[in-house]
Amino acid sequence: MNVEKITDLKVVQDYIRMCNDGWEQGWHERNGGNLTYRLTADELEACRPFFTAPGPWNAIGVQGENLAGEYFLTTGSGKYFRNVILDPAHSIGIVEINDKGDSWRIVWGLEGGARPTSEFPTHFMNHSVRLEATGGRCRVIYHAHTPHLIALTYVLPLTAKAFSRALWQSATECAVVFPEGVGIVPWLVPGGADIARATAGIMDQFSAVVWSHHGLFASGADFDETFGLMHTVEKAAQIYILAMSAAGGGPLRQTISDDELRHLAQDFKVTLNEEFLD
Ligand code: 13P
Ligand code: ZN
Repeated sequence: MNVEKITDLKVVQDYIRMCNDGWEQGWHERNGGNLTYRLTADELEACRPFFTAPGPWNAIGVQGENLAGEYFLTTGSGKYFRNVILDPAHSIGIVEINDKGDSWRIVWGLEGGARPTSEFPTHFMNHSVRLEATGGRCRVIYHAHTPHLIALTYVLPLTAKAFSRALWQSATECAVVFPEGVGIVPWLVPGGADIARATAGIMDQFSAVVWSHHGLFASGADFDETFGLMHTVEKAAQIYILAMSAAGGGPLRQTISDDELRHLAQDFKVTLNEEFLD
């Protein structure tokens, strides 16, 4: 496909649209949240004519050997999702990963001295473990500051079981969309290798991991699947809070029982994580 600008390519358009959709949902105050996408070989060839002279190599602080030589679209650190659609070249960019899988360099965008998101170590390690866990299907890692889910991290026990059950019970689709449940990382300082290791350490089991008092990391094969997962989790958290508030803090009069969840999983042919059921 011949296009005049890199931003005319479908993959870049889809990426920008996802950033804007997240902004419109209210998940990206100021510079909150970040998005990375691992380009396919065809997408890379379509982008390559627009690449600029590569910048210097920068250490990521973590290593992912299975990502050596890959290219990622990434949001910039300190950049606002609401500006991505207006000024992509300064807000987002493409980075190349070196042959050891431990450094990046900018090959397009992030103009004016911008750098990839400060959460690049977490994105990178998540890509590494999800690539392995999904046989290469996973291409998208998305971090958002989803308000209802964050609120839940102040009132529910910070365990994968408590969160997975509360979310599964709050909307019938949840057990089908994330049958493995969601993982939980306790409060940690964001933006470095420690939180990256803590997140990636459980991201092999879960397609979505909650950061306590901070937000959610969601993963998926494409933009639709990943945005849809973020949206489903956040909406279930909202319903849980609405129901609990309407019930004056509970108890709830009724909910979806464990046996009903099992029945749902059977009919939709998904394997529910039995560890989280009673
Ligand atoms: P960045 O602006 O560096 O992407 O950081 C935003 C954020 O959400 C940190 O967790
Ligand atoms: Zn964040």
